Amino acid sequence: WPLLAAVALVAYLLGSIPFGIVMARLFGLGDLRKIGSGNIGATNVLRTGNKPAALLTVILDAGKGAIAVALAAALIGGRDVMQVAGLFAFLGHLFPVYLRFRGGKGIATFLGTMLALSFPLGLAACATWVVVAALLRYSSVAGLMSAAFSVIWAILLHRPDMVGLIFVLTVLVYIRHIPNIVRLKAGTETKIGQKKKD
Ligand code: G3P
Repeated sequence: WPLLAAVALVAYLLGSIPFGIVMARLFGLGDLRKIGSGNIGATNVLRTGNKPAALLTVILDAGKGAIAVALAAALIGGRDVMQVAGLFAFLGHLFPVYLRFRGGKGIATFLGTMLALSFPLGLAACATWVVVAALLRYSSVAGLMSAAFSVIWAILLHRPDMVGLIFVLTVLVYIRHIPNIVRLKAGTETKIGQKKKD
C-alpha cells in the first residue's frame, strides 16, 4: 500500500505538469489561459498558430500519462496498479496542484494513458480522434468521441478490465467539455487551427 500510494502521488504530480502552459511560455506565446478557449491543452496552443508548440504539448501531455503507467508497471506491476497510475495522472492534468487545481480537459493525457495500458486500445482511441477530427474539424468532438468509443474498443479488444476506468475518465472528460458542448450547440465552437473564438 505505501508503494501504491507513492506511485499514485508521483502519477498525480506528473499529470499536474501543464505542458501547454510551459510550451506557450517557452515559445514566447504568452499566457495560454488568456488565449482562445483559455484551456491549457494542445488545441488551444494551436490557436496561437504555433504548430511545433502544439505538437510538443500533445506529445508531452500524452507522454506524462504513459510514463506514469510505465512507472507503475516497473515499480509494482499488475493491471490494477497501472490503471491507478493512469487515473491519477489524468486527475493531475484536470486538477493540477501547480495551477490551484484548475487544469485541462484531459484528452491527450487520456490517449497517452490508454496507449500505455493497452497499445491496441490506445491506437483505436487515437484513430477515433483522427477520423472524427478529419471529418468534422472540431477537436472537442473528436476528444469526446474518442473517449466514449474507447468503452466499445475495450470490449471488442478483450480488455473488459479497462471499462470501469474508461467510464470514469469519460464522465470527467464530458463534464470538462460542457463549455465546448454549449459552444457546439450555439454554433460558436472554433474548428481545429482556427485562431479566434467567434
Ligand atoms: O482536447 C481539448 C479539446 O477537446 C478542447 O479544447 O481549447 O477547444 O476547449 P478547447
